[in-house]
Amino acid sequence: MENSDVICACLNLTIEDMKKAIKDGASSFEEIQKATELGSVCGACIDDARKAAEELLA
Ligand code: FES
Repeated sequence: MENSDVICACLNLTIEDMKKAIKDGASSFEEIQKATELGSVCGACIDDARKAAEELLA
């Protein structure tokens, strides 16, 4: 997983954006979603994003 990997194409969110949300206090996938709006457009990224979040939060 690279920081520059795009995790949500609709919003152009990357792993780095997810890490930033975690650094800013998000402690679950749902909180990352709240902070970034990840998955709020087409939703296709949610399964992969959830997996990435689990790794990042582990
Ligand atoms: S790819 Fe994330 S909402 Fe569409």
